[in-house]
Amino acid sequence: MRYAILPACLLATACNTHQSALAPFGVEAGETRTLTLVMALAALGLAAITFALYFRAVRAPEGSLSHTGGMKLVLWMGAIVPTVLLAGLLLYALPAMRPMDSAPGDLEIRVEGEQFWWRVIYDPQDPQGRLVDANEIRIPTGRTVVFTLAAHDVVHSFWIPGLAGKMDMIPGRENRLVVKATKPGRYRGVCAELCGLAHALMAFEVVAVEPVAFDSWLAEHQAGIAAPPKDSRGARLFADQGCGACHAIQGTEHTGQIGPDLTRYAHRKSLGAGTQEPTLANTADFIRAPEDLKPGARMPTYTDLSREEALAIARYLKGRE
Ligand code: CUA
Repeated sequence: MRYAILPACLLATACNTHQSALAPFGVEAGETRTLTLVMALAALGLAAITFALYFRAVRAPEGSLSHTGGMKLVLWMGAIVPTVLLAGLLLYALPAMRPMDSAPGDLEIRVEGEQFWWRVIYDPQDPQGRLVDANEIRIPTGRTVVFTLAAHDVVHSFWIPGLAGKMDMIPGRENRLVVKATKPGRYRGVCAELCGLAHALMAFEVVAVEPVAFDSWLAEHQAGIAAPPKDSRGARLFADQGCGACHAIQGTEHTGQIGPDLTRYAHRKSLGAGTQEPTLANTADFIRAPEDLKPGARMPTYTDLSREEALAIARYLKGRE
């Protein structure tokens, strides 16, 4: 039974195209996978040669192997072949280490790591077009996208395994990661640097769409999507409980910046930065006791709210009221 675990894990990971560096949907991740395959094949080749020599030596009749022959083997297999092989691999891999080029007109998306979620800002330099979202990143395929990455509290690491390598988000500095998606689809990114208690529960959705669909989505959302109705019970509870001190909802008086922007919450596919499905029930549970669904979450508990009241706020956020 024990021996079945490793192949089972390998099979399970091989089928995962949602979050896997072996199922690339970006140029850089594609190059990395090819490099990995080449290195693995080279290592397998070396291992096969070593085993072949070992068996030959073991089976050779006594006295047929000379000291000079052994020294020659050590020279070839211990020095010459590895040097040539490693130099070849280095020359082959060097071009892949260069960051991708970007041009001034490329789409810029600023992503800021927070404990424990992601602030996402499209077109951050453009005061009119600037669009704030959280925990979901939408990118066009076939176009260069420049991520500018920053953090406010501790070091996080921005990693979309199927798209590109990791890049640290460091308080006080801005890092750039240039990417190009090649395949539309829904993928997952994660935080790859231990950043606190909920580090393992700090993920995000990546939605890669055709450029035309991306442009119309961005234009629609930049023009402002309809704010949820203000006079519902959920809206009143949201205001009375002071949720707006931490969360912003565009088109309302709520402009808090401490927690994730909730304007597009109804469209998101996850709750608590990739932790849960954003159903009404989960949303209500999260509002009342965030710690239960996401240990380490910085949001305070609202156990004073009845479940009915929390459900009313959830319906308001989901645009169902
Ligand atoms: Cu953020 Cu780990």
